[in-house]
Amino acid sequence: MTLRIGIAGLGTVGGGLLSLLTEDGRARMIGSDIAVTGVSARTKNKARAVPIDAYDWYDDPVALAEAPGTDVFVELMGGAEGPAREAVTAALKAGKSVATANKALIAAHGEELARLAEENGGALKFEAAVAGGTPIVRALRDNLAPCRVEAVSGILNGTCNFVLDQMANHGVAYDDAVVQAQEAGFAEADPSLDVDGIDAAQKLAILAMLAFDGTVNPELITEQNNIFAVHGISNITLDDIRFARRFGFVIKLVGEAKRAGDDITMAVSPTFVATGHAFSKMEGAGNAVAVIADPLGELLFTGPGAGAGATASAVASDIVSLARKDGGPVFTAPVDRLRPLPVREGGEELRLYALRLRAEEGELDEEAVTAALAEAGCFTSRCELVGDDLMITTSPIDEKTLSSARTLLFTRGLARTENTFPILTL
Ligand SMILES: NC(=O)c1ccc[n+]([C@@H]2O[C@H](COP(=O)([O-])OP(=O)(O)OC[C@H]3O[C@@H](n4cnc5c(N)ncnc54)[C@H](OP(=O)(O)O)[C@@H]3O)[C@@H](O)[C@H]2O)c1
Repeated sequence: MTLRIGIAGLGTVGGGLLSLLTEDGRARMIGSDIAVTGVSARTKNKARAVPIDAYDWYDDPVALAEAPGTDVFVELMGGAEGPAREAVTAALKAGKSVATANKALIAAHGEELARLAEENGGALKFEAAVAGGTPIVRALRDNLAPCRVEAVSGILNGTCNFVLDQMANHGVAYDDAVVQAQEAGFAEADPSLDVDGIDAAQKLAILAMLAFDGTVNPELITEQNNIFAVHGISNITLDDIRFARRFGFVIKLVGEAKRAGDDITMAVSPTFVATGHAFSKMEGAGNAVAVIADPLGELLFTGPGAGAGATASAVASDIVSLARKDGGPVFTAPVDRLRPLPVREGGEELRLYALRLRAEEGELDEEAVTAALAEAGCFTSRCELVGDDLMITTSPIDEKTLSSARTLLFTRGLARTENTFPILTL
């Protein structure tokens, strides 16, 4: 029996999916009879790379989601609310299955939508929502289901990685690198969701749900909370990049979710990554996810985090999985067995930090600075004066200690902090 697909959203990913399903993809979907029957987007008469005349057009994505001719509703419009949420909800309520690439929607409403899928007998798939074409969602949900995941971390935002890569390897200033990302089609006209770390935080929340069998309160996915710290890359300068290089690191936007006793810690921040670490080698819009799981040890998934072909291939893999009637829960367990994850205040964790300090005026007194840092409980493991900057790496400290050390330096007029970075130790 043919599986009839309705696609809402015909932009980068939707266009890529149509071309994959209609041009060369079907032959590879072994044993699956799949046909696109209906499509929806904002503007019917827009010029599109792939012709859509052969499909029924729907002005309203909800109508497509509910149409009797749609077995699987594919949501590729984006956004946590509005038409994406309404249409996915309508499809699931009608007992249909859904595939989506929408991390904002899954991070904000994944639990509620999974419940709807369970109650109405449909499935909800979102392989493309994290790391684009890199197959990490199914790996966590299925392959790693018998394992105890201790930590999951990754470079989850292609735009930020592209920008940091341009800064580190081509000496491009931050603002210019963002423009280059926009010109290359990686960044939106308004890149704030990416560069502020929110997009990476949404993806990390989804990974944590899959890794630790629970739900993450969506209210934690903001820049303004002390629990799940979310920091972006917009204050990174070429001086920071040089500082990192001098100490043998590169700066990457890293999301980390770990077990800490009975709790979970989660953070997204620009992080010093040692040049030998696999994350340091991720170039352009590439994504990487590392998982530490018992009894497997460490696993590394790398691949394209964005782009039409890569993301469409992940969505198509969900469609194939639906055609094959691969079962199982939406996350790792039925919704009633998912517990709210006890996300602990990240600042309590002991971490190594790198600090770049500068004198308020005149020369920096290295000895006085390190003595004041030690007085606050922040011991330095490496300290080097480079031009106007004193570069320091610390012994393991928590955020409170780091913050009081910085305040002490400032109130004594010894130095101000130009920037601070956690150092990746996973
Ligand atoms: N781009 C990537 O590389 C990538 C990677 C991973 C995940 N994703 C996710 O994939 C989803 C789609 O991203 P995209 O990059 O393909 O976006 P996009 O290029 O901006 O395309 C969005 C599509 O949705 C349609 N649309 C927007 N608002 C609508 C509305 N109110 N009603 C009906 N249709 C509407 C647009 O219609 P018109 O064409 O008529 O304007 C357009 O076809 C998002 O959730 C995104 O986060 C994207």
